[in-house]
Amino acid sequence: MYIDKIILENFRNYEKQQINFNKNINIIYGNNAQGKTNLIESIFLCAYGKSFRAKKETELIKFSKENASIEVFYDKTDRKGKIKAEIKDKKTFFYNGIKQNKISDIVGKINVVIFTPDDIDIIKSGPGKRRKFLDMMISSLKPNYIHLLNTYNKILEQRNNYLKQIKFENKNISMLDIWDEQLAEYSFKIYEYRKYFIEKISEKIESIHNLIAKCGKEDIKIKYISNSKDQKSFLENLKKTQSIDINRGYTSTGIHRDDFIIYINSKPISIFGSQGQQRTAILTLKLCELNIVKEEIGESPILLLDDYMSELDEKRRKSFLENIKGNQVIITCTDKIELKNESSIFYVENGICEIDKQN
Ligand SMILES: Nc1ncnc2c1ncn2[C@@H]1O[C@H](COP(=O)(O)OP(=O)(O)OP(=O)(O)O)[C@@H](O)[C@H]1O
Ligand SMILES: [Mg+2]
Repeated sequence: MYIDKIILENFRNYEKQQINFNKNINIIYGNNAQGKTNLIESIFLCAYGKSFRAKKETELIKFSKENASIEVFYDKTDRKGKIKAEIKDKKTFFYNGIKQNKISDIVGKINVVIFTPDDIDIIKSGPGKRRKFLDMMISSLKPNYIHLLNTYNKILEQRNNYLKQIKFENKNISMLDIWDEQLAEYSFKIYEYRKYFIEKISEKIESIHNLIAKCGKEDIKIKYISNSKDQKSFLENLKKTQSIDINRGYTSTGIHRDDFIIYINSKPISIFGSQGQQRTAILTLKLCELNIVKEEIGESPILLLDDYMSELDEKRRKSFLENIKGNQVIITCTDKIELKNESSIFYVENGICEIDKQN
């Protein structure tokens, strides 16, 4: 699939902006703080229903304006579509002109895979970043998954509140069973999705890693870490930890504690991997995601590379570009990159994005 054009109104530092994209490669360059990431953010927001950096909706609206809008026009193999986001104190989404009741209704219509220098946190930071990576990929492919996660989080919050009430207000312990049954049920459903997608990554990770690392000596593996493997043991674990949980005031077992580990030659890469090995592994992981999205939806997703190319050395840049042929790519950078392939180059300055005049 590809994005034909976007139209922004009062979004971040853009007042009125239309960009007609190339079906292949788009390079957006400009100095710092001119509006490159803002463009990536606008597309991301229409794909996932939320920003990857704004805490409040009002941050997205141009200073001193009241509301903002983003329109993304896209083409899939068999149909065209448009997602519009209207932003005030909250966001409202429209799909082909029709207002959508839930944000999750638009997730997955535009398929993007985003690459940013912060991706390295998936390896370096705690399990939360790894769960987020998995959850975002699965949500964009399986709309039901967002519903499962939301419900799980609600039940978890209720259970945690009740744990505190048991401790401080002497509420009845046996009532916990209600939350435990429900948590176990949703844990298992979410576990099954995560397991399926980790298996998908596992099938691809070795061959993609070999292409990028180009040295057969490194053996890469991914392993899913979860407390339990079936609904019964999810429930048993919750029951076992009830008294610890009451003491702590939070739930210590369940899929909100899941993780995955990447190993190089049987050693966890987060601990023993060199900087270069970690970067190669993260690129591998993202390219696995790209291939999985392609397989699952039968369309090539759009790649958003925010300030990413400068992260790659010459060798990795080459194998990366070989791997993404056939996808629409939108690249931001501070120094203009010249690519031989068919590409459009845009220049951004102070919230105005125009086709580069020198091309
Ligand atoms: N709500 C807003 N209204 C107006 N301007 C905003 C708003 N939010 C952010 N900006 C401005 O947008 C600019 C940042 O844009 P962006 O993050 O896209 O920069 P960038 O071109 O990606 O820079 P860098 O190369 O440093 O990453 C800043 O100048 C910031 O002040
Ligand atoms: Mg930026």
